[in-house]
Amino acid sequence: MAIEEIPLAHALGAEIRGVDIAGTVSDADIDAIRKAWHQAHVIVFRDVAWTPDQHCAFSRRFRDLDDHAATPHDRLDGYPELLEVTNKPKNNQPSQTRNAGRNWHSDYSYTNRPAASSMLYCTEKPPVGGDTMFCNMARAYDDLSDKMKDIVAGLQSVYDFNLVSGTAKRDPVKMAELLKLNPPIAHPCVRTHDESGVKALYVSERTSHFDGMTRAESVPLIQFLCAHATRPENVYRHQWRVGDLVCWDNRTTMHLALGDFDSSYPRHMLRTTLRGEKSGYVVPPQGVG
Ligand code: SIN
Repeated sequence: MAIEEIPLAHALGAEIRGVDIAGTVSDADIDAIRKAWHQAHVIVFRDVAWTPDQHCAFSRRFRDLDDHAATPHDRLDGYPELLEVTNKPKNNQPSQTRNAGRNWHSDYSYTNRPAASSMLYCTEKPPVGGDTMFCNMARAYDDLSDKMKDIVAGLQSVYDFNLVSGTAKRDPVKMAELLKLNPPIAHPCVRTHDESGVKALYVSERTSHFDGMTRAESVPLIQFLCAHATRPENVYRHQWRVGDLVCWDNRTTMHLALGDFDSSYPRHMLRTTLRGEKSGYVVPPQGVG
């Protein structure tokens, strides 16, 4: 049976049908999925029932996996390649990821290996809400005026771990460790996708400033670019079902995990992160206050 792509929104997103990703997937199907992924930027598989090992094995068909050494406390026990994003207590302690992803971002932008892509699998969800929104950063770049394209082409976006959402609620000792592991780092504000060649904006609500500019000079432009990228017409909102696998390209999208749910219900997700190219240079902290 041929792979079918069902568009989910105008700007990005497609559901993929006609392939059982928990079974044996041929190389031709992997190529077809990769092609659909590059075109839609976010792809969704429904009704997936698999084990952590199967999740990792399927993800590895596309790229090497990150071992999440940049956020070592959030890994699923025994599976360094699986990040647990949940509001469920862990080892009788509040989960460090219970408020993760609550501002627009691209995964691991605060590291020297920004994530290429991510594959998030839903195992438990609240009755309503807990949605995730995605925006298309390639389209956001294309829609800029030529003059603004020239300006952003010369900028380096600085990413600061302090701007990751929910940091105030993390354990202070673990937070100090994370800040040491992830000092502020600058990446080009416009990046060229290493597989498709597409150009995309690379700036987010975790960008503190542009290297060589003050925060006061940078913030209005960061805010403009984020507002421009996240206009409703440039967004797909995913309403989760248990068994969904949602795969996004971090080189051409940003995403936002909404806190629009009753947190007395469990929300539990497992994420593989497909390793990106090495990029960026460390810069002195400038403060984000
Ligand atoms: C993430 O930012 O990787 C998590 C997204 C989510 O929990 O919806």
